[in-house]
Amino acid sequence: MPVSIRHGKRAGDWPVAIVRAKAVVANMSVVDKVALATGIGWKNGPCVGNTPAVPSINYPGLCLQDSPTGVRFADLVSVFPAGINIAATFNRTMMRARGLAMGVEFKGKGVNVALGPDINIVRSPRAGRNWETFGADPYLSGEASFETVTGLQANGLQACVKHYINNEQETNRSSSSSNVDDRTTHEIYLHPFLKAVQAGVVAFMCSYNRVNGTYSCENEHVLNDLLKGELGFQGYVMTDWWASLDTFGTLAANKGLDMVMPGEASPSANHSYFGPALVNAVKTGQVPTSRLDDMATRILAAYYVQGQDGNDYPSVNFDSWTSSRGKHVDVQSDHKKLIRSIGAASTVLLKNAGSQLPLGDNVRSVAVVGSDAGPNPKGPNSCPGRGCDVGILAVGWGSGTANFPYLVDPLSAITAKANSINATVFSSLNDTDLGAAKNVSSGKDVAFVFITADSGEGYITVEGNPGDRNDLNAWHSGDELVKAVAGVNKNTVVVIHAVGAIIMEAWIDHPNVTGVIYAGLQGQEAGNSLVDILWGDINPSGRLPYTIAKSPSDHSADISNGYNVDYTEGLYIDYRWFDKSNIAPRFEFGYGLSYTSFSYSALAIVYLGGGLGNEPQAPTGPGSSLSSWLHDDWMTVTFELTNTGSVDGVEIPQLYIVPPPSANSPPKQLRNFDSVFLQKGESSLAKMYLSRYSFAVWKSIEHRWEVPRGKYGVWVGASSRDRRLYGEIDV
Ligand code: NOJ
Repeated sequence: MPVSIRHGKRAGDWPVAIVRAKAVVANMSVVDKVALATGIGWKNGPCVGNTPAVPSINYPGLCLQDSPTGVRFADLVSVFPAGINIAATFNRTMMRARGLAMGVEFKGKGVNVALGPDINIVRSPRAGRNWETFGADPYLSGEASFETVTGLQANGLQACVKHYINNEQETNRSSSSSNVDDRTTHEIYLHPFLKAVQAGVVAFMCSYNRVNGTYSCENEHVLNDLLKGELGFQGYVMTDWWASLDTFGTLAANKGLDMVMPGEASPSANHSYFGPALVNAVKTGQVPTSRLDDMATRILAAYYVQGQDGNDYPSVNFDSWTSSRGKHVDVQSDHKKLIRSIGAASTVLLKNAGSQLPLGDNVRSVAVVGSDAGPNPKGPNSCPGRGCDVGILAVGWGSGTANFPYLVDPLSAITAKANSINATVFSSLNDTDLGAAKNVSSGKDVAFVFITADSGEGYITVEGNPGDRNDLNAWHSGDELVKAVAGVNKNTVVVIHAVGAIIMEAWIDHPNVTGVIYAGLQGQEAGNSLVDILWGDINPSGRLPYTIAKSPSDHSADISNGYNVDYTEGLYIDYRWFDKSNIAPRFEFGYGLSYTSFSYSALAIVYLGGGLGNEPQAPTGPGSSLSSWLHDDWMTVTFELTNTGSVDGVEIPQLYIVPPPSANSPPKQLRNFDSVFLQKGESSLAKMYLSRYSFAVWKSIEHRWEVPRGKYGVWVGASSRDRRLYGEIDV
């Protein structure tokens, strides 16, 4: 079947909603308009954020609720694979399906606004919230943002992308300044947010940090110039919870802020920057009435465009703080099937020496080693905010979590499988008892060693890690555990549940480490998803959404401990840096093995539109002209894919553009990808579109996008370093 990937079109009908909202706002009092924009205060309503009802316009107020992995602080909900896992699928259909299923759950609980997805970029591999995001490449993250938002909002939920912008570490997040040049902002960090706007996202959350010296929630440049200007965003911007407003407070409204959350100025304050202060500022002319009208219009238009004023939108039926007050509506449907399949599709097979995997039904004895293989003895939700690393790690910690309805641990799932094939399982779940690990592993057909690395939001510290990780090593002496098992078992398979990259140099080349599986954070079905891969019911197709280095210092960016977080590496993060500096990674961005093999052939590049000569070189804001570039099918790249191996499987072809020197750009950049299922022996034509934007660079001085002329390479491969086809075109 031919595969066709196009850039999606924006959903929703903003013009109609805006006209309607304006008509309503025209008759509202100042106090009522301010009410739309002011949260009622932390824990004063059932959700993590609440705005008041405004009876004069028959408006019930909003329930705003975390998280990007499921409905937080509620029961009878699902915990989905983390953002970093859905990115690893490189599969747009799954990205959208996950968003859809989550959207149904939020709506079923009566949530108006889901606080997600988190679309910051993996800049430093130690950053605590990397696992909530869609990885280290803006194009991949942009596609995941587009699909997730589209899915979430499909049934009327409002999605809120966060944290806008440059909240790429937890350390000093409320005081530091992320200092980023204009070109890097446009080409790397802004792009996922642009795609969310293209998907019709209705809400943005501005971040805690400063951007180039000014807090993002009162930063006229990022809010007005970039977001509402260049990107043409028509929805509203809320603060992150108690986000600081340094110089302006109430006057942040004049800089583009539309809503304060959860309402009060700080956790200990009993006043709000908005509320009565904003009423007063409008009455004294410090904030123009036109600005207040715009804020109210944006908030109401978002509500109307999503149809939440219709009769069928449920009201809130849970309580985040007092569970007994809720109605306990079960919103899980059959989402566990999707969760299990995403868990498997996001699993990255890193090493399979001698094709030991998948295991056959002839396996008789299986060793399972490591605490990550088992359950948390106190239950999967026993640590508040999932702030511990006890038992199977299936989500990180902080506000990006939800309560597990159950959590399938690997030992249970492997035991169930073993029972069905008359194999025996021997386990040792103690990470530091190396003697026991060796005892159970010795002489078994296969030994699985489970290791972890955890991280999360900075309000919780786990095992000395204050949100951001202290280092990139496996936790709980994981390296020692692997070496102990590999010392006695010739078929050692390492399974990694982690928030991102770990350093694995201590054992990766050990001849007895025959298999390495990067499972990431698979959500509630973790054990089942893993077994699907181990025994080959699902052929692995996950690909790394970030680079795994040989040494932490191989990366271009790290957590900064000071006030200034200087993005001096510019465009050169992750593979862009490794490529430029000729550093060999351990496993590169886009890497992942399969149980079958694929060949690539017959590359063809076809211009659809005219050359650049007849086209405007430079769309400048607002968003509409940029969007014509985004949607422009300027070129197609086609090639033939064949499954040359012995089992059915999914290939993830990746298209990178190699720019001419005049572009002064990274050596290559991802500009399209696909997920193609092929039966063994089957061939298919893959077809990918490129727009002018795919080739464009941001010219800061001219303040416009431009396609530098010259010879471009079209680089098609199975990872960012596994080139299969190459062509050149003159632009
Ligand atoms: C702060 C976090 O940064 C944000 O992601 C979350 O949505 C809010 N807290 C509300 O819990």
